[in-house]
Amino acid sequence: MNSSNLIFLYFSLLFFTAFISATEVTHDGTAIKINGERKIILSGSIHYPRSTPKMWPDLIRKAKEGGLDAIETYVFWNAHEPLRRQYDFTGNLDLIRFLKTIQDEGLYSVLRIGPYVCAEWNYGGFPVWLHNQPGIEIRTANSVYMDEMQNFTTLIVDMVKQEKLFASQGGPIILAQIENEYGNVISSYGDAGKVYMNWCANMAESLDIGIPWIMCQENDAPQPIINTCNGWYCDQFTPNNENSPKMWTENWTGWFKSWGGKDPFRTAEDLAFAVARFFQNGGTFQNYYMYHGGTNFGRTAGGPYITTSYDYDAPLNEFGSLNQPKYGHLKELHGILHSIEKTITYGNISSIDFGNSVYATIYQLNDTSSCFFGNTNTTTDATVTYQGVDYNVPAWSVSILPDCKNVVYNTAKVNTQTDVMVKKINEAEDEPASLKWTWRPQVIDDTVVLGKGQVSASQLIDQKVTNDVSDYFWYMTSVNLDKDDPIWTDEMSLRVNGTGHILHAFVNGEYLGSQWASYGIFNYLFEKKIKFNPGNNQLTLLSATIGLQNYGARFDLIDTGLPGPIEIIGKKGDESIIKDLSKHKWSYKVGLNGLDNELIYADKKFASQWQSENLPINKLMTWYKTTFKAPFGEDPVVLDMQGLGKGLAWVNGNSLGRYWPSFIAEDGCSTEPCDYRGSYDNSKCVKNCGQPTQRWYHVPRSFMKEDDNELVLFEEFGGNPTLVNFQTIRPGSVCGSAYENRDMELSCYGRVISDIKFASFGDSQGTCGSFEKGSCEATNDALSIIQNACVGKESCTVPATKSVFGLTNCGEGVLKRLLVEAVC
Ligand code: GAL
Repeated sequence: MNSSNLIFLYFSLLFFTAFISATEVTHDGTAIKINGERKIILSGSIHYPRSTPKMWPDLIRKAKEGGLDAIETYVFWNAHEPLRRQYDFTGNLDLIRFLKTIQDEGLYSVLRIGPYVCAEWNYGGFPVWLHNQPGIEIRTANSVYMDEMQNFTTLIVDMVKQEKLFASQGGPIILAQIENEYGNVISSYGDAGKVYMNWCANMAESLDIGIPWIMCQENDAPQPIINTCNGWYCDQFTPNNENSPKMWTENWTGWFKSWGGKDPFRTAEDLAFAVARFFQNGGTFQNYYMYHGGTNFGRTAGGPYITTSYDYDAPLNEFGSLNQPKYGHLKELHGILHSIEKTITYGNISSIDFGNSVYATIYQLNDTSSCFFGNTNTTTDATVTYQGVDYNVPAWSVSILPDCKNVVYNTAKVNTQTDVMVKKINEAEDEPASLKWTWRPQVIDDTVVLGKGQVSASQLIDQKVTNDVSDYFWYMTSVNLDKDDPIWTDEMSLRVNGTGHILHAFVNGEYLGSQWASYGIFNYLFEKKIKFNPGNNQLTLLSATIGLQNYGARFDLIDTGLPGPIEIIGKKGDESIIKDLSKHKWSYKVGLNGLDNELIYADKKFASQWQSENLPINKLMTWYKTTFKAPFGEDPVVLDMQGLGKGLAWVNGNSLGRYWPSFIAEDGCSTEPCDYRGSYDNSKCVKNCGQPTQRWYHVPRSFMKEDDNELVLFEEFGGNPTLVNFQTIRPGSVCGSAYENRDMELSCYGRVISDIKFASFGDSQGTCGSFEKGSCEATNDALSIIQNACVGKESCTVPATKSVFGLTNCGEGVLKRLLVEAVC
């Protein structure tokens, strides 16, 4: 190597070391500080296992493009340590790859290790083997539990340190979280709860990660741990220590969905209002929970009864596409907040109370000042007079004036396009809607008829004993009855007390009936007439879980399966004689034969056992299989499960999650659009009433090969697979909206705008797809102006001004808007 090479090497090394030098993350009573500078941090939750590594760069790029600084994720203990000391960090569990992808895209990261996470995730993220450890008590001062928790937390911290991913090492992680909302349940653990919480804090601190630790919803969080807020609104939150900045770890962007439940959504206006109010009131860190919700693949959904889709009405939808106008309306807000970051983090604060829930907050730094005008009134618009100028502030909104003169943003005025998604049939197939199916029955003979299990016990055992390796658990016993048994009558019935979550009952190999819980009330009573033979009878009860409880004090102890009693009742006149089978000798078997036999993978030894004749419809416990071609292009792919009952689905061996389209969502949706004004909660804005709770299931592109792919279904309840088909999903029409003097921007995301269906500058109203002209309109023909500007282009921008559209006869007080509906 010559000397110039050496010099080059020296400078490269110098540059490299400078590049990876540590980021210092500190805080004071006002703000988070990065390298000594006060910051506002806008963050969003994306959970790596709820998408695929292929999707990560795109999701994170869109988050960055949407104005975020950071990505927040939980770490999912049960997924990483499914069996004690056996770890999995592969595929969509590759935490390090996910963090490096965030780093690669130039964003910060917030690592919520928990390792209890809640998150509508199975068992709140606890591995079920933990529950089965002798002497354990979970989430309290118990050494067995604390040792396991410390072991996993340390493992994660060490892995992350090894890869130099903490900001203190030059990595992206600026904050780490221990536990999760322990303050919500601490009182039910008494003094031991307090001891545990302090232990968590000390244990976390001892890991020496060089960045701040946070605890969310934990009012007693000891210094230096920062207590943060979770909720729909956190503007009124004050941390428990005056040295802690005001931070919001979960701003719920919508809500999760349960089987049989309505589909909650939250308006863009209300979400933006919550964020603007938080920063108006001195917030420094805000995270959207979720920014991308994604999918509960496999058996990861918690609950019980959380659906496979975890869309959450987040700014990025389940498939990773923009959820417009939410995404764009927030993006604009983020840009404005960043533009006044210095003033709102360093400025002096003053406020003016105008009464009737209207107030202004003024941040002043040297010669600049920035203003927020907030109106928290739920119905009355307000006029704010500030420095001699009148400003209209609509009810339940915040206006931002970066210079305290011009309103550049109002949370209630959306100037972003709305996208209406459409589905398209799979053009790679000649007959996309008639897939060719083969089938085979679930082999249950041994189990149902002979009652042959793997273990037996003279008691009813909780399903968690199985370490939750399957949804399915068989309870089998024999009942010996002869005709002179006092219970023997023509009217005998079987009564089962169950807690989780579905029961299918069989007697002597014959199906007797099923029963399942409803969301929120998980114990149920099964009672059905039963016919016994004199002598020996085989009783088989199949219990199926739909995600284990993930929240609440001591949720880990909630009964799962059939805790009993299980009884036979003989009725003689008014008299009932009860035979309690609970202490019988029960034989137990875990799982399904089909899964043991690996039916879900192609070309396995059982391939010959699939039949193509006499495809059964509505047959309990049936396996179905078909092949299909991956749809062309890059649009997200969904599987239409219309016609099916309930079960599990796999594409090329990758689990799509549980499906249950036969579960119809309850009634009670309003036909009126949801009013964004007034406090939001998850029951306020709902849709999808009376429809299958979830009909469409995400099939990530990375699960598919280009040509032949295999879909396998285990249909538990019985259904009709002939309507099942694959489709792609994309924006079909887009509706532009711009208030007067703003730009109306339209985009078909790389596709061409083919037609304009509606355009009007005036006081038109309605929602995308059903706009209606109002009582006033500009003189020029809006439709032809927009057609000329937009048709044939991928995107277009048109100013919503008098000079483009002409004068209107709308009158003074009327808010004018350009509304456009375009076809992509
Ligand atoms: C919070 C919890 C999150 C999630 C959320 C609801 O209480 O911290 O993990 O469960 O509720 O989506």
